[in-house]
Amino acid sequence: MKKKLIAGNWKMNGSLSANVSLLQAVLDGSKGLNCKAAVCVPAAYLAQAQSMLSGQSLIALGSQDVSAQEVGAYTGEISASMLKDFAVHYAIVGHSERRQYHAESDAIVALKAQRALSAGITPIVCVGETLAERQAGQTEEVVKRQLAAVIHTNGHCISEIVVAYEPVWAIGTGLTATPEQAQEVHAVLRSQLKAATSHSDRISILYGGSMNAANASQLLAQTDIDGGLIGGAALKAMDFLAIMAAGSTTP
Ligand code: 13P
Repeated sequence: MKKKLIAGNWKMNGSLSANVSLLQAVLDGSKGLNCKAAVCVPAAYLAQAQSMLSGQSLIALGSQDVSAQEVGAYTGEISASMLKDFAVHYAIVGHSERRQYHAESDAIVALKAQRALSAGITPIVCVGETLAERQAGQTEEVVKRQLAAVIHTNGHCISEIVVAYEPVWAIGTGLTATPEQAQEVHAVLRSQLKAATSHSDRISILYGGSMNAANASQLLAQTDIDGGLIGGAALKAMDFLAIMAAGSTTP
């Protein structure tokens, strides 16, 4: 049985002083918990978080993006090898906010996953449908298309990724997919991964979208939900710790 992975995505929040209180409280409260965990912090705070996280192994460091390019004249971009310099273990790729506000295509997301993998960083590949797509009955088609691009580009390395199902309509809205709705999509993703690699059992499929202290246990109890990608609730130590605790006790 894989340990659950509880990853916080801080998005564009934080400050040097706020990060100290948040991360210290999470570190103090997480001792003895039995899940895997990560915090995906803004790039500007990677060095700070790296130094705070050093010397312990429960909470790994993650970035929120990685460049699809290797090196060169790409102003503002951050390469996978630069992230590696800060002991980054996970990189979120293809978050819906980047697909929406930065026009990231499936092909770009697939390349970003490839750059991360070749630097030894685990990409957390986000997929998810919009409300209009769900209402049009296109959920399965959309998530399969998004994941297929990553599978196509990355071949057998696909067994080293993490997938996050994040229905766009559930992100930051307080609307959560029901455990059954989430499980249904996770099962689709699981069988797509099974068809792509004989090592699909290594791949964690996280749920993200208004996961919180109150609904985490039920979501994490679903057969194909291997963890959570947490936005808003990751900014409050008590809430994030409660989700980590749920991830430590749910089989
Ligand atoms: P919320 O938990 O704030 O809905 O955000 C989810 C998310 O986008 C995590 O990447």
